Amino acid sequence: MCAKLERAAHQPITYEGLLQGNKEWVAATLAEDPEYFARLSAGQKPPILWIGCSDSRVPANQITNTNPGDIFVLRNIANVVVHTDMSMLSVLDYAVNILEVEHVIVCGHYGCGGVAAALSNNQFGIIDNWLRNIKDVYRLHEHELNSISDPKKKVDRMVELNVSEGVFNVTKTSIIQNRWAAGKKLKIHGWVYSLETGFIKDLGVTCQANDNLSSVFKTVESKKG
Ligand code: CO
Repeated sequence: MCAKLERAAHQPITYEGLLQGNKEWVAATLAEDPEYFARLSAGQKPPILWIGCSDSRVPANQITNTNPGDIFVLRNIANVVVHTDMSMLSVLDYAVNILEVEHVIVCGHYGCGGVAAALSNNQFGIIDNWLRNIKDVYRLHEHELNSISDPKKKVDRMVELNVSEGVFNVTKTSIIQNRWAAGKKLKIHGWVYSLETGFIKDLGVTCQANDNLSSVFKTVESKKG
């Protein structure tokens, strides 16, 4: 296990401080476990892929009490899963077919600024094109969302729906469809983290086969040659 160091809350974060922190972490980790880096550098076999928000307050390892080597991670603004994202497709393909993860977790968080921005009518620049994918989630669930008058509750429900749609979007990829068709064990989960309590809520939208998908999304590899 790598060392976990105490850091004073009032200590300013500077880039020099990061390098110094790194030296302290290496020293403390080696003191605890001299073989730590030799062992970890030999390879990775994480059983989990995490697709989460870039928000600095939602680091996958810390909030799940796990270590380097435990979770393969992709983070973007508002944990959007969209099929034209080459980064997402590459990470998913590598995680599923090479690392052979058995769980993919799409994890959002309540109070997500990206989701709140997508619910607004303001322009924020280039990011609007990314957040527009979340507006599509709104369009799918407009009736329910329009019935929520409290703005905070509306954003939080939207966060949950964005995660649920993210789970479905993962399952719709040929990567996952082919994995399931090959009889491999693979579950896709939807979670939401609370910045206010620190707890993660499982939304109960887990997919382990394409039963939940409309038939149009169920695809098979065409025979080649
Ligand atoms: Co966020």
